[in-house]
Amino acid sequence: MQNSVRFILDNRIVEVDFSEFSGLKPTTTVLNYLRSLPGHKGVKEGCAEGDCGACTVVIAESGADGKLKYRSVDSCLVFLPMIHGKQIITVENLAVSDKQRKKLHPVQQQMVETNGSQCGYCTPGIVMSLFGIFKNHLKPSREVIQDALVGNLCRCTGYQPILEAAQKACTNDQTDQFSENEKVILSMLQEITSEKRTIEILTSTQRYFKPFMLTEAFRIRKENPEATIINGSTDMALRQTKKHELLSAIIDLSSVDELAFLREEPGCFVCGAGVTMEQLKQATADKLPAFHKILSVFGSLQIRNLATLGGNVCSASPIGDLLPSLIAYGAEVKLCSEKSERIIELEKFITGYRKTDIRKDELLTEISIPKYKRDTKVISYKVSRRKDLDISTVSAAFRLKVDNGNVAEIVIVYGGMAAMVKRALETEKFLKGKLWSRENIQMAMKILTNEFKPISDARSEAVFRTKVAENLLLKFYLETMNEVV
Ligand SMILES: Cc1cc2nc3c(=O)[nH]c(=O)nc-3n(C[C@H](O)[C@H](O)[C@H](O)COP(=O)(O)OP(=O)(O)OC[C@H]3O[C@@H](n4cnc5c(N)ncnc54)[C@H](O)[C@@H]3O)c2cc1C
Ligand code: FES
Ligand code: FES
Repeated sequence: MQNSVRFILDNRIVEVDFSEFSGLKPTTTVLNYLRSLPGHKGVKEGCAEGDCGACTVVIAESGADGKLKYRSVDSCLVFLPMIHGKQIITVENLAVSDKQRKKLHPVQQQMVETNGSQCGYCTPGIVMSLFGIFKNHLKPSREVIQDALVGNLCRCTGYQPILEAAQKACTNDQTDQFSENEKVILSMLQEITSEKRTIEILTSTQRYFKPFMLTEAFRIRKENPEATIINGSTDMALRQTKKHELLSAIIDLSSVDELAFLREEPGCFVCGAGVTMEQLKQATADKLPAFHKILSVFGSLQIRNLATLGGNVCSASPIGDLLPSLIAYGAEVKLCSEKSERIIELEKFITGYRKTDIRKDELLTEISIPKYKRDTKVISYKVSRRKDLDISTVSAAFRLKVDNGNVAEIVIVYGGMAAMVKRALETEKFLKGKLWSRENIQMAMKILTNEFKPISDARSEAVFRTKVAENLLLKFYLETMNEVV
């Protein structure tokens, strides 16, 4: 048993102990930990639910190529043990002390020069997002910059100079003290991560398990069937930060590298359950367009850098954004335990409102997404009140193959229309074998109206949802009518 975790902060290895007198719980967030230190008050709490970006920090960790990889995250959603074996960088770490005075980091200097800094609440988080861009992109496009800033709200709307600051800071010269110090940091990280023994933190009220190997994860799952599984924790952390629940037992899969793979096989793409949304977004641009389109409007970069595919699937949310496209693609999930392995259709895995068919000793390990030839169209849509950083009001995904003008295959899936993401089976049945024509689509829209009984809630009235669902089917027809034969 090990009651502590280790990470790098302020260029040195810090060990955090969870014994009773430390005042820290294994579910203390990185945000709350940092704010408890005298030198890291720049990290702010705005919303404590991943929406405002005031708590943005950058995590650096060793990548497969042996170099440091940097990602911006919302520290309000990250539990302390999740940063074991990583470096945490906050706004206080960016400037370097040069004899008598501090030298600002290029992103800070540009924020000053373009008058990008408004209030002290949002600016540290914005600076950290800019730092994330600086470390990952050479001369980034405006699109890349805007995307990286989606998760940073600024109520005084001073975005223009911030975008300018990012553009000016990320020039050809991307060296900074972090590049110069890279080897030292990598060797410190190596020192922490060379030990692959599962971390088991036991306090009087909580048990937190952090395995590094899949076999260990299966063992722990079997011995602790009631424990909450987390990976990115972007869903689960809210149970603590918003609902103030005490998560008494946790299995943290975020360091099980065997779950974080992407593989292309002849007939399909196989994605590990631990792949993050941002990794998926980067990998699917040309290969799975319907999927990529949804990932482009999924949360913010800070959320996508944490959230995993497995977490999205297992949340089984009726408005989970990836489920409609995955079901339209005909994805399958692999569920494994210490002794068993089974593969089932994703559609069958989702059994109700936030319910799945997972067994008490199983973990979701991979999701395979079939590839289709050009004669099959898969298109997805997300309708939300705001384009960015908003959850769906209604989402839909369609798969269509037309043969000699007639529908040979059709799959129609909706999110936000029922207690779970669901196929419109009656509508599909009506269209199958019929001419892919506007007349038939209009008749199908009527069937669709009777097939779902959506609820009215804060997001929308039921009648609006029904109308949107109908219109998305029409939109799909209009977008494909000239492309399918
Ligand atoms: C600000 C914000 C914005 C968001 N925006 C979106 C959005 O645009 N679209 C959207 O769909 N969602 C969104 N979400 C929800 C969330 O980010 C996603 O559902 C995400 O994919 C969850 O992944 P995770 O790894 O963080 O899951 P976690 O929170 O770690 O876990 C979620 C669930 O999956 C289970 N689980 C995780 N991995 C496994 C596994 N391998 N085996 C078995 N069970 C497992 C957990 O037990 C839990 O029940 C948002 C959340 C926040 C906070
Ligand atoms: S405090 Fe708002 S995103 Fe973390
Ligand atoms: S910088 Fe804080 S509201 Fe704009």
